[in-house]
Amino acid sequence: MFKNLFSPGKIGTLEVKNRVVKPGQHMFTADRKGFVTPLQLKLYARWAQGGSGLIIVEMAAIDFKGSMELPMQLIVAGDEYIPGLSELARAIKENGARAALQLSHGGGCKMGQPAYAPSAMSYVNIMGTPQDAQELTIPEIEEIIEAYGQAAGRTKKAGFDMVEVHMAHGYLPAAFFSPRTNIRTDRYGGSLENRLRFPVEVLQSVRNHVGKDFPISCRISGTEYEEKGTTLVDSIKLAQALEQGGADVLSVSAGGATSHYKIFITQYFPRAYNVYLAEAIKKSGGIRIPIICNGGITTPELAEEILAAGKADYIALGRPLWADPDWPRKAQEGRSQEIRPCIRGNIACTGAAALQSGGIHCSVNPEFRFEYKETLDIVAKPRNVAIIGGGPAGLEAARVAAIKGHKVTLYEKRDVLGGNLFEDSVPQFRSEKRRLLSYFENEVKRLGVTVKHEEATTDAIVKGGFDAVISATGCKRTRPKIRGADKPFVIDFVEALQGKMKGENIVIAATDYETRCIDIALYANEQGKKATLLFPLETRKDLTEAIASGEAASVAQSIMEILPQIRNIDVQLSVKLLEITDRGVVIEKEGKKQTLSADTVVLVPEFTANDDLARALEKRRLEVHKVGDCVEPMRFFRNAIHEGHLAARQL
Ligand SMILES: Cc1cc2nc3c(=O)[nH]c(=O)nc-3n(C[C@H](O)[C@H](O)[C@H](O)COP(=O)(O)OP(=O)(O)OC[C@H]3O[C@@H](n4cnc5c(N)ncnc54)[C@H](O)[C@@H]3O)c2cc1C
Ligand SMILES: Cc1cc2nc3c(=O)[nH]c(=O)nc-3n(C[C@H](O)[C@H](O)[C@H](O)COP(=O)(O)O)c2cc1C
Ligand code: SF4
Repeated sequence: MFKNLFSPGKIGTLEVKNRVVKPGQHMFTADRKGFVTPLQLKLYARWAQGGSGLIIVEMAAIDFKGSMELPMQLIVAGDEYIPGLSELARAIKENGARAALQLSHGGGCKMGQPAYAPSAMSYVNIMGTPQDAQELTIPEIEEIIEAYGQAAGRTKKAGFDMVEVHMAHGYLPAAFFSPRTNIRTDRYGGSLENRLRFPVEVLQSVRNHVGKDFPISCRISGTEYEEKGTTLVDSIKLAQALEQGGADVLSVSAGGATSHYKIFITQYFPRAYNVYLAEAIKKSGGIRIPIICNGGITTPELAEEILAAGKADYIALGRPLWADPDWPRKAQEGRSQEIRPCIRGNIACTGAAALQSGGIHCSVNPEFRFEYKETLDIVAKPRNVAIIGGGPAGLEAARVAAIKGHKVTLYEKRDVLGGNLFEDSVPQFRSEKRRLLSYFENEVKRLGVTVKHEEATTDAIVKGGFDAVISATGCKRTRPKIRGADKPFVIDFVEALQGKMKGENIVIAATDYETRCIDIALYANEQGKKATLLFPLETRKDLTEAIASGEAASVAQSIMEILPQIRNIDVQLSVKLLEITDRGVVIEKEGKKQTLSADTVVLVPEFTANDDLARALEKRRLEVHKVGDCVEPMRFFRNAIHEGHLAARQL
């Protein structure tokens, strides 16, 4: 099974046991001075235990003068960092994987000042804050090139098997190569040859410090997806120059300083979205060194297909290994259906709230950051546990309680599992959500949870003789108080996903939950219908901002890229919904009243926590734990899954 994925490979002199690579991902987990922390040792050891062949440690700053992009980033700018980095390399290698460290200079993308770039210009950092970057002088450039080399030397000394130079994503080497950000007129700017000079000299400096046989990877963007930015044609030239300059492997990512959302591809774009770039570079002729591809490759089947088709030599899995570090091991053992899938929602790993608090996490994997002291051991005295509600909160609780050896009965009143996850995974573009639902369905079956498709009542639970109850009953929906909301062709956005959008002409009154409403429009479009989205936005006129206020910025940017391209979706801003009549929707726009015809009108329901049963059970003196939307309605899968997990751990 997965013959190509689990065949050994060679990068320069380095033998790698399989084709799974963990790419660098900054996690805000170094200490404030850039030293390795115990949490990092655990995280990287865990990835190695999961079976990845090669683990590339997140970007480390190469100097103290402006290379560090983000807080709590690793630093490799002085010998004092070598002992910590040695421990990190050892933690990876002792657990069976090869270890590499990524060297980085954030250039104009870094947060705060001083920010240096090939040319003085305005940049936007990862938090979306505009900032100015200063032009580097030639002596400063030479100093930075030497700093890369010295950092590489320390990487080797620390015991890593390979070093990777970050030349992608708009960082300094990429900025020198990009005609958009490099408008210099000296030997480092202008012609292609001059724009190649900085990345190639960095590579040479690294080679000089690590010697002939030490493997070097260069991470590049196959395209920057930016106006005037680097294109695939340019990147092929860069790839050739780097191979000639002595690189042993190329890792092909995508995205530039203003298009970071094209790096960690959201569910609004297909899986493996950026693999065509790796393939084009690999097949461009003249490239003989191996190629690592990346970007939204979520399943082992897809990874195997890419390798079998010769599109790349290695598969980098970023977020999928957050969702499940055992992805490689499970795939190799023929247990793919047990892999907990990354849903590419980005809310916990790149969302603004997560970044601001420094607490980035994974929505579907509550154990990602090792917050829990105890492992999920079998309990000495199994308890009889009722879990009420088969949505994400109840399913995770059932999974964890069953692993701990409790006798678990899961009540779900519908004839399907998943709660809102069921409806949410209906549209075609929600395939990752469907995988999450299948994962949960498989887990409860595999772990011997008794599933009762019936409505749990106070009497039934009391009579059931349960020692503890986890209430995961979600929330209730009611129609908003709009005149005409009771008409037969008016439905809410959950019903829209239940096949109740009739006719061709769908009007969606997006009064709240903007992203959910846009999803309905996309679903209507999938079904060949025409959708009109009415946004009130009296106060927040900017739709990107409105979406981003509840989601990761990458989700907002993805939506804003695809939405205008869909002919059958009409977006109207600053609209006031007055009433629904038999002729359609009466609105006010720019002071004028008008009627829009509609076959189906979709409204945003009002949500309230569904906690009546939990309260009734508490009154009967049962041990009740409330989790998910029955605590507070319409939060995120993250809240539901994490709360379900924690409650079951505590049993
Ligand atoms: C259309 C839609 C799209 C969404 N998209 C996203 C998204 O993309 N990302 C995100 O993070 N969040 C999203 N959400 C929010 C997310 O779905 C919820 O936060 C999450 O589902 C809450 O999980 P839960 O298990 O607490 O409740 P639910 O998913 O509501 O599950 C509760 C379950 O309990 C069952 N139940 C209730 N009472 C009883 C009873 N007495 N006996 C037996 N069973 C009972 C219900 O039938 C239901 O299946 C979306 C929500 C909706 C409505
Ligand atoms: C939180 C986060 C941090 C990242 N940090 C880095 C980094 O330090 N260096 C890098 O080259 N890429 C970084 N990336 C990009 C990833 O390496 C990878 O290309 C991206 O997650 C897409 O792969 P995936 O779809 O498998 O997750 C980061 C991505 C995420 C989500
Ligand atoms: S938070 Fe979401 S997108 Fe990020 S790794 Fe976890 S499942 Fe994937």
